[in-house]
Amino acid sequence: MAFEIRATGSAVPPNKVTNDDLAERIDTSDAWIREHTGIGARHIADENTATSDLALEAARNAVAALAKKTGESAEAVAASIGFIITSSVTPDYNGFPSVSCLVQDALGAKNAAAMDVCAACSGFIYGLEVAAGLLSRNAGQKRALIIGAETLSRLTDWEDRSTCVLFGDGAGCVIMEKTDAPVSGDGARGLLRSVLGAEGSGKEALINRRGGSREPYKKGAVVERPPSIEMDGRAVYNFAVRAITGTIEKLLAAEHFTIDDIAVIVPHQANARIVQAASKRLHIPESKFFLNIEEYANTSAASIPIALDELERKGCLSPGNAVLMVGFGGGLTYGGNIVIW
Ligand code: UT7
Repeated sequence: MAFEIRATGSAVPPNKVTNDDLAERIDTSDAWIREHTGIGARHIADENTATSDLALEAARNAVAALAKKTGESAEAVAASIGFIITSSVTPDYNGFPSVSCLVQDALGAKNAAAMDVCAACSGFIYGLEVAAGLLSRNAGQKRALIIGAETLSRLTDWEDRSTCVLFGDGAGCVIMEKTDAPVSGDGARGLLRSVLGAEGSGKEALINRRGGSREPYKKGAVVERPPSIEMDGRAVYNFAVRAITGTIEKLLAAEHFTIDDIAVIVPHQANARIVQAASKRLHIPESKFFLNIEEYANTSAASIPIALDELERKGCLSPGNAVLMVGFGGGLTYGGNIVIW
């Protein structure tokens, strides 16, 4: 039994905000942002667009792509989805209904169970493994829709230059299908293996402190600061380099692969310098890593599926290619997967 990625989709808001646009509002510069992060711009949702709107657009794109491939109608593809799993730190609502339930309704995925997973920027990586687990246990279901979707602009303190330059909005997704292809050896297809982990002791390094059950808003109280991302950039940087290198090493060793067996590494797009440091430490050429951070900045759980969709639509992925995904984020969490395309 294999768990193949059959289609991808993505959506980003049309409003592109460049580094120079930000430099007009806060004390920063295009040169500083590019040099320290590799970011050139980010796409920001308008006030009428919430996370599930971007998730839905990405999902519709993936459904259309699969319908085109198989000759099914888009309605039939939507109805064939057994599970929807969305990862987001910026859901439409605080807790419920989940983004997945909103997408299920709007997409017409009437036979799907729906839930969100919370693993911050590693969420899509976790979601793939959760989906494969659910599909393997449910004989009657053969497809799952796994989404990473964010409107991080809603959690951004636009006066804090150390964080606001880093983030953007967007959504990406894949449709996974359970097939009879082998999962190892010649002709292997789909999700081969995942490595998932957490270091909860690093919780303070990346935290959205206010508005939850520990610090709820109280009736009549004046909200001085809305919820926002608080980050110890240096601590997250060090964790990220360690997490990426360790995860890649573990995945390769477990599959008895060398780096030459991998067609492309799709890392979480948080900072090009983190990827450069990891590639140096692992003696893997930087060209092996796909980066589109310059255009979209860090879209948290959406960054890996947006990158996958770009690679797929540009025709960069061929059947049989091994794709290694690796991510890290708040929690702290980390993880990676190897998928044979
Ligand atoms: O999905 C996971 C999310 N988070 C991450 O991945 C973040 C990981 N960390 C990082 O990417 C980097 O640590 C940052 C990009 C956040 C910061 O880069 P850095 O090279 O570690 O810079 P720094 O924090 O050491 O700051 C260097 C200087 C400071 O000035 P002083 O104290 O040396 O005078 C900052 O105040 O740069 C200053 N600075 C800025 N200057 C211009 C910080 N932000 C900015 C800015 N524009 N936007």
